[in-house]
Amino acid sequence: MTKVVLISGSLRAASVNSAALRAVRRIIAQTRPSASAVSLPIGRLPFYNGDAESAGTTPAVAVARALVANADALVISTPCYNGAVPGVLKNALDWLSRPDGASPLTGRVAAVLSASPGGRGGIDAQPALLDLLDSCEAITVEHPPVAIRRAHQRLDGAGEMTDPEAVAALRELVDATFEAVAIMAEQRRSVLRTHEPPRNPGAPQAVPPVPSPAAGPLSRAGVTLSRS
Ligand SMILES: Cc1cc2nc3c(=O)[nH]c(=O)nc-3n(C[C@H](O)[C@H](O)[C@H](O)COP(=O)(O)O)c2cc1C
Repeated sequence: MTKVVLISGSLRAASVNSAALRAVRRIIAQTRPSASAVSLPIGRLPFYNGDAESAGTTPAVAVARALVANADALVISTPCYNGAVPGVLKNALDWLSRPDGASPLTGRVAAVLSASPGGRGGIDAQPALLDLLDSCEAITVEHPPVAIRRAHQRLDGAGEMTDPEAVAALRELVDATFEAVAIMAEQRRSVLRTHEPPRNPGAPQAVPPVPSPAAGPLSRAGVTLSRS
């Protein structure tokens, strides 16, 4: 079963980014009933502090790490604050980038979108977010940017993002994300096949390497995965 974790960069109850992710969850439920999509509430994470990390006593961080470590993909929706990613989202990704060498973000498929009441849809935050994910060695899903403009006008009376144009863009993002997950699974299977045990049980066996996105860009059906 494909597991998707949804991360909103806004803590507001009426957040348009959280509304966009609820729409993503509905799309996944409708189109991939065997998949699961759960939200990671980043507002519960404390400010990153190396002392707290060393003490290892922050349950919210442990829960967040486990959720991401067990996910096949992340979908992150960010507002744009002063041309950048909100501090609360940066803080969450900083926690998830730890511990050095064993971050749950490493090798994780991650798709990005933004939403804003303004005319740019928060798109100015996306390059920094993608760079941040690259730094954390996540595998970002390349697709035409999804930046939902005038997002507050795309909510229905119940505060849900049901606007057909927004839903269509989110559906394409979901498709690209699942395609990326399929490519990664295929790559892992291919590595395992390459390193199947030899017929002669006495012969020395090669240790299969962990599939690495650093092996180069992969592409299929218009979806490109890359890691800089
Ligand atoms: C501190 C701050 C800075 C902001 N800077 C920008 C900005 O640079 N560009 C922009 O389009 N909107 C900016 N906004 C407006 C946000 O896009 C808007 O608050 C948006 O609704 C936040 O997303 P949310 O509804 O998911 O909370 C800013 C808002 C705040 C609070």
